[in-house]
Amino acid sequence: MRVRVDGGRCVGHGRCYALAPEVYADDERGHCVAPATELPRELEAQARRGAENCPEHAISVDARVESDRPRPEGRPPDRRTGPMSRPRS
Ligand code: F3S
Repeated sequence: MRVRVDGGRCVGHGRCYALAPEVYADDERGHCVAPATELPRELEAQARRGAENCPEHAISVDARVESDRPRPEGRPPDRRTGPMSRPRS
């Protein structure tokens, strides 16, 4: 799960980090800062609570994890760790 904050919309109401302090934090201006890394599913309800209570609709929550995302069409699986990836001399 990932959360994203639209910095153009956030005006610093602070409801997100007040209601979901394990997910969101505030910067020096009181604007929301969201973690750049993937969050565990246990925090999804808290992440959504913070997003739903933002009057500016500045937060989006994407519940999919990276491994859930489909690979682009026609792209083979990553084989960088296999013997075929070694450069030939
Ligand atoms: Fe900003 Fe909304 Fe939180 S305006 S500080 S993202 S409640």
